[in-house]
Amino acid sequence: MTIPRSLVIGCGSYLPARTVTNDDMSRIVDTTDDWIVERTGIRERHIAADDEFTSDLAVKAAEAAIAHAGIDAQEIDLIILATTTPDLTFPATATAVQARLGLRHGAAFDIQAVCSGFVYALTIADTFIKARQARTILVIGAETFSRLLDWTDRGTCVLFGDGAGAVIVRAGEGEGTIHDRGILTCHLHSDGRYQDKLHVDGGPSRTGTVGHVRMEGRDVFRHAVTNIAGAIKEALAATGLSADDIDWFIPHQANRRILDGTAKKIGLAPEKVVFTVDRHGNTSAASVPLALDVAVKDGRVRRGDLLLLEAMGGGFTWGSVLLRW
Ligand code: UT7
Repeated sequence: MTIPRSLVIGCGSYLPARTVTNDDMSRIVDTTDDWIVERTGIRERHIAADDEFTSDLAVKAAEAAIAHAGIDAQEIDLIILATTTPDLTFPATATAVQARLGLRHGAAFDIQAVCSGFVYALTIADTFIKARQARTILVIGAETFSRLLDWTDRGTCVLFGDGAGAVIVRAGEGEGTIHDRGILTCHLHSDGRYQDKLHVDGGPSRTGTVGHVRMEGRDVFRHAVTNIAGAIKEALAATGLSADDIDWFIPHQANRRILDGTAKKIGLAPEKVVFTVDRHGNTSAASVPLALDVAVKDGRVRRGDLLLLEAMGGGFTWGSVLLRW
């Protein structure tokens, strides 16, 4: 007897052309390249052009993922787009992507879990596949996070960047063992008691404005290592696998020290960690699929490899996805 499995059959990404280095940042706020590199590992980030929107980034990443998967866009029957920076308050940016891809069938919606957005979206996609409600799902993480930054707050504006990543998830069958290709287990969490630690101080209902990112960095850091390590342990416990079985750890790229701390806490060899935070900064929901695309396209990730994805963000929200490529 076989069971439904969600196979990730292709990926793609897009970064805006403009890069902003730490030295560039030091001309905007009172900071230095040394401080940013030492505290975060970030060296540069990409920033969208004024006339470039989240949907533009998302469409480019989606087209790359469709080409990599070798499918016809018309085969897509569901689009799930994770973003904190939609083009407009409504309609969902996913519907703009649907229209731009020339799709008239199926459904498209956005999900909001800030930096955990892609892990949430992938988990939702897996659930649709297992319920046999969709066969070919485009899952995107896309952000123009620079639009939410207070460019006078050096504690936050140096951390974030813009970008998009996408994957194609296809319904398949497996034996129900850890040797199957596809998504093996997903674990999502949130704890709304910590909303104030990392939030945007505006919104349509409360202020009628877009608002800016506010963060108590040290507290977020502390919770991040604990929560992420917890979600990873759950994934390993659910499958009976150990940290040694993981071929590639593809985490949300918030801060190099968080990734080092998490890898150490779960006993994962540092060379198995995919780092892109140095070149991308923290791109929120886009960071995991961007890092995945880098590691797939540079040949590190190979068919059959076991990948551990995780993220943590505002809410707090956090989670993990374990999948065999
Ligand atoms: O993706 C969502 C999840 N987000 C995260 O995971 C972010 C988690 N937090 C962090 O990554 C770190 O807390 C930060 C990188 C944001 C900050 O690093 P930190 O080591 O926690 O520094 P801090 O906030 O405790 O600040 C230390 C000092 C302060 O100065 P004083 O009060 O000691 O004089 C800050 O004012 O560093 C100062 N500072 C800066 N200095 C130069 C803060 N930002 C900057 C800056 N350049 N950009």
